[in-house]
Amino acid sequence: MNQIVIPILAVGATRERKRQAPKGRRVDPQALSEVQALLGDMPRRRDLLIECLHLIQDRYRCLSTQHLAALAQELRMAQTEVYEVASFYHHFDIVREGEDSPAALTVRVCDGIACELAGAGELIERLPAILGADVRVLAAPCVGRCEQAPVAVVGQKPIPQARCETVQAAVQAGEVADTPAPGYLDHAGYLQQGGYQLLRQCLSGERDLDSVLAAMESSGLRGLGGAGFPAGRKWRIVRAEAGPRLMAVNIDEGEPGTFKDRVYLETDPHRFLEGMLI
Ligand code: FES
Repeated sequence: MNQIVIPILAVGATRERKRQAPKGRRVDPQALSEVQALLGDMPRRRDLLIECLHLIQDRYRCLSTQHLAALAQELRMAQTEVYEVASFYHHFDIVREGEDSPAALTVRVCDGIACELAGAGELIERLPAILGADVRVLAAPCVGRCEQAPVAVVGQKPIPQARCETVQAAVQAGEVADTPAPGYLDHAGYLQQGGYQLLRQCLSGERDLDSVLAAMESSGLRGLGGAGFPAGRKWRIVRAEAGPRLMAVNIDEGEPGTFKDRVYLETDPHRFLEGMLI
């Protein structure tokens, strides 16, 4: 009788080969020196990944796969982790080998439901021909300005109630940077109004934690993420947990129709920061 023999590799040999093989893409020396020059003295910490990605995107208008691999090596992170973060945000442009860099200027037109209802489709259709080949026009998910629909963003400058003419005018005038919102309260102004005093009192012990929690609870403040959970109760529950406690502050308003965080952050950011620190 013929016997079927299944060849089996020695397990140890396979593992050995795997260990010797480089993980992910090989790091290009030139890309590495470019990333190192860009990062300068910046600490090589993985929690600064987004800041590093912004530096590369701003300098090269895109994130090449070579730069991503080099950044992963600099931050001692897996290439897949860096790629996952970079590919999550639509404002980062990942460019693979052989692909062209994006045009010098990008115009994003929100195609979320509020903007779609207000005519974003027509903008997306007409703007490429009006703006020409030097400007890239992309459809983008909600940019958190639903009350200004339809919204286009020229570079980083939002254009409320956008029309082809107003977008074209911003492009031609080179208006690509965002400007402070009307009524913006800066750091000096906030200090003048007594800003950061409560934080100082908490740090010095002049204000005890229980009184802060009690103030939160009696305020009736609730989260607006959908569940309406009482904020004071949440703080007390977290306080009762064993340390170390970590807090993630999420200010991404991805749901069309919500733009409350953006309004507060644009006008009174230090009140938000002080609350967060407390
Ligand atoms: S749907 Fe367009 S800004 Fe929100």
